Amino acid sequence: MDFTLNEEQLAVREAARDFAQRVLKPGVIERDSTMTYPTDEVRQMAELGFMGMMVDPKYGGGGMDSLSYILALEELSKVDNSCSVIMSVNNSLVCYGLETYGTEEQKQQYLTKLATGEWIGAFCLSEPEAGSDATSQRTTAVDMGDHYLLNGTKNWITNGGTSKVHLVIAQTDAEKGHRGINALIVETDWEGVTVGAKEDKLGIRSSDTHTIMYSDVKVPKTNRIGEDGFGFKFAMKTLAGGRIGIAAQALGIAGGAYELATAYSQEREAFGKPISQHQAIAFKLADMATDIEAAKMLVYRAAWLKDAGKDYNQAGAMAKLYASSVAMKHTVEAVQIHGGYGFVKEYHVERLMRDAKITQIYEGTSEVQKIVISRGLLKGDLY
Ligand code: CAA
Ligand code: FAD
Repeated sequence: MDFTLNEEQLAVREAARDFAQRVLKPGVIERDSTMTYPTDEVRQMAELGFMGMMVDPKYGGGGMDSLSYILALEELSKVDNSCSVIMSVNNSLVCYGLETYGTEEQKQQYLTKLATGEWIGAFCLSEPEAGSDATSQRTTAVDMGDHYLLNGTKNWITNGGTSKVHLVIAQTDAEKGHRGINALIVETDWEGVTVGAKEDKLGIRSSDTHTIMYSDVKVPKTNRIGEDGFGFKFAMKTLAGGRIGIAAQALGIAGGAYELATAYSQEREAFGKPISQHQAIAFKLADMATDIEAAKMLVYRAAWLKDAGKDYNQAGAMAKLYASSVAMKHTVEAVQIHGGYGFVKEYHVERLMRDAKITQIYEGTSEVQKIVISRGLLKGDLY
């Protein structure tokens, strides 16, 4: 395995780093404090091609590999995790799901607009009573012949208020369990779609997370993704790749905290020398760098497996499990290295600490990742 980055990957990383530091950083504290959606920033991300990076250029995407996408997400996540989750959902859940499992008509109608960022998409699986236990869908899609009648409530939906398209997972035939679930493409301006209030969150505060209500929404049969009953597998297969994206987000959060802590420790003096010269602080930096490097190997390897057409289900789960724990642990350490300054917004590390927590929860909690990993192990899928 060779992780030497090629010219395209290096250029993408550099462009993302420049964008994050130059465009995202100046307003990130304000947007976080006021829960302001990054409208202009997302528009610029679309112009840079960041909203459909892996999509085939014939549908308006960047045609890049997963590793390039991961590198871009990592750089954005060092600075603004509201922007990186908006990007991640659009790329790895919505565009990937449509491109891989949609019909040509669905791709022409929807993917072409989503890949360019003209439209933003949302992925609607979670419900008030179906989070980790995702097969317990209460939202129903009743087969009415030429269309489905969609009723139910989804919650915690990222891009909930700004999206034009939802990929909605719903139960059509409860007797068939997970084999009776469908995935439907729903346009948000259709009658019966209602967006609830924006959630006031611990972290990623300027991303828009909403409850969505569907009341007698008529969804044409042509908007079903895959065969009848494919919806749960669609969600699982799509999330397997999405989890590599969230792992990259966690890696970026840890990396951003490390960069800030290292720079601060070299400037801040105590007892007559920079605090980096005190072994207790230097050893924290050593632990951070080592854990981040280990997380990077897992995350890049999962992306490499995906690009190589190999199975990445467990590799992605391992990457997310480990990188999110590294992000949580070391953002706390970055605050500690900053002392009192770390506790105020101006120094950025407290925001990264708050943002880190969600990477252990969404796209499958850490406990869910352990279910995925252990089931694979016991089936003999690994090693
Ligand atoms: N690929 C293909 N098929 C898969 C699969 C995968 N990765 N994972 C499961 N399946 C299949 C199984 O093979 C099984 O099919 P068969 O019966 O035909 O063999 C079927 O799906 C059901 O699988 P399980 O029996 O394993 O299902 P389960 O009820 O035990 O649940 C679970 C397994 C892993 C816990 C799953 O429910 C899960 O992933 N839960 C977490 C949900 C989640 O990640 N939500 C994220 C929402 S999106 C989001 O969060 C976005 C954001 O924040 C930004
Ligand atoms: P629960 O499933 O109720 O879990 C509660 C606790 O019990 C967790 O610690 C969990 O790990 C543990 N637990 C549950 N079952 C088991 C088990 N079998 N073994 C061991 N432990 C278990 N969802 C979407 O569909 N689309 C989105 O865009 C989206 N964006 C989100 C954005 C934010 C900011 C947030 C907070 C959530 C988002 N989610 C989204 C929802 C997210 O995926 C769920 O919150 C997550 O899957 C957990 O579900 P839950 O909140 O219902 O927790």
